[in-house]
Amino acid sequence: MATPKRSPWFTLGMATPGAVLNVPVPNSLHTHSIGPPHSSLVTLRTLSAPLNPADINQIQGTYPTVPPFTSTLGTAQPTAVPGNEACFEVLAAGSGVKSVKKGDWVIAKYTGLGTWRTHLQVEEEKVQRVEKEGLRSEQVGTVGVNPVTAYRMLKDFVKLEEGDWWIQNGANSGVGRAAIQLGKRWGTNSIAVVRSRPGAEGEKLKKDLEDLGATKVVTDEEMQQKDFKDQVKEWTDGYSSPLKLALNCVGGDAAMAMAKPLSPGACMVTYGAMSKSPMRVGASMLIFKDLRFSGFWVSKWSDAHPEEKKRTVDELLEMMRTGAFRDTPMVEVRWDWGTERDVLVEAVQGTLEGFKKGKGVFVFGDT
Ligand SMILES: NC(=O)c1ccc[n+]([C@@H]2O[C@H](COP(=O)([O-])OP(=O)(O)OC[C@H]3O[C@@H](n4cnc5c(N)ncnc54)[C@H](OP(=O)(O)O)[C@@H]3O)[C@@H](O)[C@H]2O)c1
Repeated sequence: MATPKRSPWFTLGMATPGAVLNVPVPNSLHTHSIGPPHSSLVTLRTLSAPLNPADINQIQGTYPTVPPFTSTLGTAQPTAVPGNEACFEVLAAGSGVKSVKKGDWVIAKYTGLGTWRTHLQVEEEKVQRVEKEGLRSEQVGTVGVNPVTAYRMLKDFVKLEEGDWWIQNGANSGVGRAAIQLGKRWGTNSIAVVRSRPGAEGEKLKKDLEDLGATKVVTDEEMQQKDFKDQVKEWTDGYSSPLKLALNCVGGDAAMAMAKPLSPGACMVTYGAMSKSPMRVGASMLIFKDLRFSGFWVSKWSDAHPEEKKRTVDELLEMMRTGAFRDTPMVEVRWDWGTERDVLVEAVQGTLEGFKKGKGVFVFGDT
């Protein structure tokens, strides 16, 4: 088994445990060495790693989990590496490694691996091999969080039959675009709610989402009009096809407006809080309509269902391979050997901003 050369590797990491609560972005680019892998260790090279909103929340200290701080990276203080998703190439494997070999592509089996780095060495059991044939690393590196979240939310909360309706806000997000495509594939009708944009930009977004498979696309303002419920009644043929599910990543009054047209017994699944506003549920929604308000967190689900996660990921990758699933728009941030820390930090800083052109993804070059 070939072993990698001992050479410096970059790690974009947080400096101290205290920093996680105070520093809004990773604050250091650290170089260290990795030795040859022994027994069950694998050495990985990162090919691509997305910048997800949750990664920033984690750095800000507003997320329920904190990445592990370790002294093994050779920093003066214990250091954590941000990032929870990536596509890696196996560079070398220890003598006891059975599930992967040099050249394979793998993704993280669990969250918290720390993916914003050029290389890492981990236990074999922390990664899952994927069939790389016909795929780009950006597709593999972004499959495990957003598309999996969309898939599980459409499947696990209500039984959506063909022809049924569901509604979602943040519909142009990574999760939203995945949900639109899966909902269409499974024969359901979706109402995609987006924030309005001026003129041609708004029209273009509407068309993009319709092309992906959204049945109707409306703006937040349109949804909050008094007659929106009548509009839904007309679309659903007087609710003869029920509006059974709402997916909410925004929160606040906008989320509650989305609950109003739901059919009795429907479920709203909250999985994000982009507006940072709390939701006030009217008693009548609970008493007279028996609406159910639930939540989904892919980290908890994945850690509890590793086999089901693998099955879900493999199914999604097969859709991508056959062209049945389109990528979310991405803004590639190239990370080469000589890339300056400030370039990486700037890319991270823009992640929580609204009206973005696409999801930031680190794409690793000559590292
Ligand atoms: N619970 C889970 O397991 C789970 C899993 C994956 C993602 N998430 C969450 O899902 C959300 C979307 O993630 P993503 O990676 O798909 O996001 P993304 O592709 O980066 O898209 C962000 C979305 O949020 C909207 N947005 C941004 N700021 C907003 C604001 N102030 N008010 C209302 N909407 C706003 C954007 O709309 P504009 O284009 O109009 O700005 C866009 O639709 C995030 O909150 C993320 O943390 C949760």
